[in-house]
Amino acid sequence: MKRRKFIVGAGAGLAALMLGGCGFLPKDNAQQNVAPAEKDSNKLTAEDSNIQTSEENNTQTSEKEKKILIAYFSHTGHTNTFAEIIQKEVGSDLFAIEPQDAYPIDHDTVVQQARGEVDSQYKPKLSNQIPDIRSYDIIFIGTPIWWYSVAPPVRTFLTDYDLADKTIIPFSTHKGSGLSGIDKTMQELQPKTKVLEGLAIWDDQAKDKQADIVSWLQRLNV
Ligand SMILES: Cc1cc2nc3c(=O)[nH]c(=O)nc-3n(C[C@H](O)[C@H](O)[C@H](O)COP(=O)(O)O)c2cc1C
Repeated sequence: MKRRKFIVGAGAGLAALMLGGCGFLPKDNAQQNVAPAEKDSNKLTAEDSNIQTSEENNTQTSEKEKKILIAYFSHTGHTNTFAEIIQKEVGSDLFAIEPQDAYPIDHDTVVQQARGEVDSQYKPKLSNQIPDIRSYDIIFIGTPIWWYSVAPPVRTFLTDYDLADKTIIPFSTHKGSGLSGIDKTMQELQPKTKVLEGLAIWDDQAKDKQADIVSWLQRLNV
């Protein structure tokens, strides 16, 4: 299997220090529950519909409103940043996937632990749940790339929920191995789901790559 290199050993302590120094710690950044979308001017709320003329209302009700969720796991905060940029653009709900047992902060320790978990396709128990997954039509699913694959909590998420007939949009952050076929993994784990084009952003570059993220969302038409 052809794999591009990423940093696991050399400089890992420094990397962990730098990440800590930037405040990218999982418990601080990850949100416990579904965070509702901020008001999206494209979306019709019950309140809005009260002040519409009947003509406007006819136009609106003829279009199916797609409800969007962004579900992601993030250990050091980069995928969280990416998820929040998407949320700002599409006005969706945001859900941080959280394992019951938090991963170690120490970089080398988590890298070793994750290697075994990814190899064995381990699915850790999650500490939080989405109350009504059925209400969503489109689900962005984000993960840091761990050992060329989805992080184990994302594998659990993809197994715990039935996402048949929904649309999944993968996104990832990484240190060299890009999307790493996570779109295929998502399709395998959710065979009845439509998986659209994913986007991978290098590590902590999401804020610098806003234009790429916006173009991607425009291509996806969401
Ligand atoms: C356990 C572990 C395994 C990783 N494996 C890969 C990998 O296979 N390929 C890669 O490009 N980056 C890998 N990385 C780097 C992360 O994907 C990258 O730093 C990512 O942006 C972290 O996202 P987060 O801050 O949302 O946790 C790994 C990092 C960790 C901690």
